[in-house]
Amino acid sequence: MIVLGVAGGIAAYKACELLRLFTESGYDVRVVPTPSALRFVGAPTWAALSGHPVHTDVWSDVHEVPHVRLGQSADLVVVAPATADLLARAATGRADDLLAATLLTARCPVLYAPAMHTEMWEHPATQANVATLRSRGAVVLDPAAGRLTGADSGPGRLPEPAEIFAAARTVLDRATRGLDHGSRAFSLAGGLALDLAGRHVVVSAGGTREPLDPVRFLGNRSSGRQGYAVARAALARGAEVTLVAANVELPDPAGAKVVRVRTAAEMRDAVREAAATADAVVMVAAVADFRPATTSATKIKKTGSDPEPIALVRNPDILAELAHDRPRPGQVVVGFAAETDDVLANGRAKLAAKGADLLVVNEVGEGRGFGTADNAATLLGADGSAVDVPLGSKERLADAIWDAVAARLPR
Ligand code: PMT
Repeated sequence: MIVLGVAGGIAAYKACELLRLFTESGYDVRVVPTPSALRFVGAPTWAALSGHPVHTDVWSDVHEVPHVRLGQSADLVVVAPATADLLARAATGRADDLLAATLLTARCPVLYAPAMHTEMWEHPATQANVATLRSRGAVVLDPAAGRLTGADSGPGRLPEPAEIFAAARTVLDRATRGLDHGSRAFSLAGGLALDLAGRHVVVSAGGTREPLDPVRFLGNRSSGRQGYAVARAALARGAEVTLVAANVELPDPAGAKVVRVRTAAEMRDAVREAAATADAVVMVAAVADFRPATTSATKIKKTGSDPEPIALVRNPDILAELAHDRPRPGQVVVGFAAETDDVLANGRAKLAAKGADLLVVNEVGEGRGFGTADNAATLLGADGSAVDVPLGSKERLADAIWDAVAARLPR
């Protein structure tokens, strides 16, 4: 059972969509709004969408002791939107309404999706509360930047409901798998064991496009799905994530800093800048090895009957450069290898040539690797290790990669 906590902010209306995403995927959801949340969206809406009665105080159905029962029986608590006031009450252990009491009794993962004005988010009091909650193992997404209530804009927007939903599923999946393996994936303080908390990681995703002229480019089939799954999995494990995305048309993962690039040269600049402070870099992006030697400022015209050959020059190898330079001591550098034949042999040769700590070798081809929901891979380590990850969701593979990275990070 999932508890959806809703605090009193204008973004409460977006939680209706989040609730629908949960219920339409078969989750049983109990909505616990704060009294102020009901000023934005009324109890009948939450009751109708969830199919359960809705209370805000601890005085209804007292014989069922709801302030304890809800927290005890939840598999996940998601608070969206989480206001500055709600974060403060949660961080200081208040129990002055049903949601705060539920947060205090929860022994499951807790995910907060904050939304508030930029000034409130940036205030040291809010930042200290967020740090406290994260230190206890709660997943606190960074708000998105953009248009806020009124004329203001900046960081403080509620991440898109689909992205909060995706983050919640990743957190749930991880907690469930932890239990399957007999290990405790979350702590008694009601939080996940966040093995990437306090770490900054850089993930590249998508495919670069090397322009021939204003109309045409050399590119590849990467959709960005695998890279976005790697970014989301890191967020769910508590990392600060910089996602360098090349020509990806997917919604931003909630809480990630997304840097958009087009070409290999732009990707190199963005990855190197972010890598200077990163504990790990995972190059999932399909980067063009070559680019046209010249880019025409105007559309190339058909001249004569024979096409002109296209002269190419080599692009820098971002992964090999990073592995060589190691901009930060102890940094773990991970690459991917997209192979169509002699997959493992080519993967091993690529690992040696690039000098990465880990190489995720996946077979690509028609219906494989590019654009799909699932993937299979072998994680080759520079230490000679090889871990097979069978066909499963790209999120599953992402989590296996972070298991391998976390084991290699300096303590
Ligand atoms: O995005 P999806 O549709 O989900 O598809 C996922 C994927 C198939 C793109 C992904 O799983 C994958 O295999 N990514 C690596 C693609 C690739 O470019 O492989 P490669 O074998 O050509 O490159 C090896 C490594 O070197 C990669 O980590 C690549 O990012 C890096 N590289 C390559 C060239 C270059 N100039 N600079 C680099 O850093």
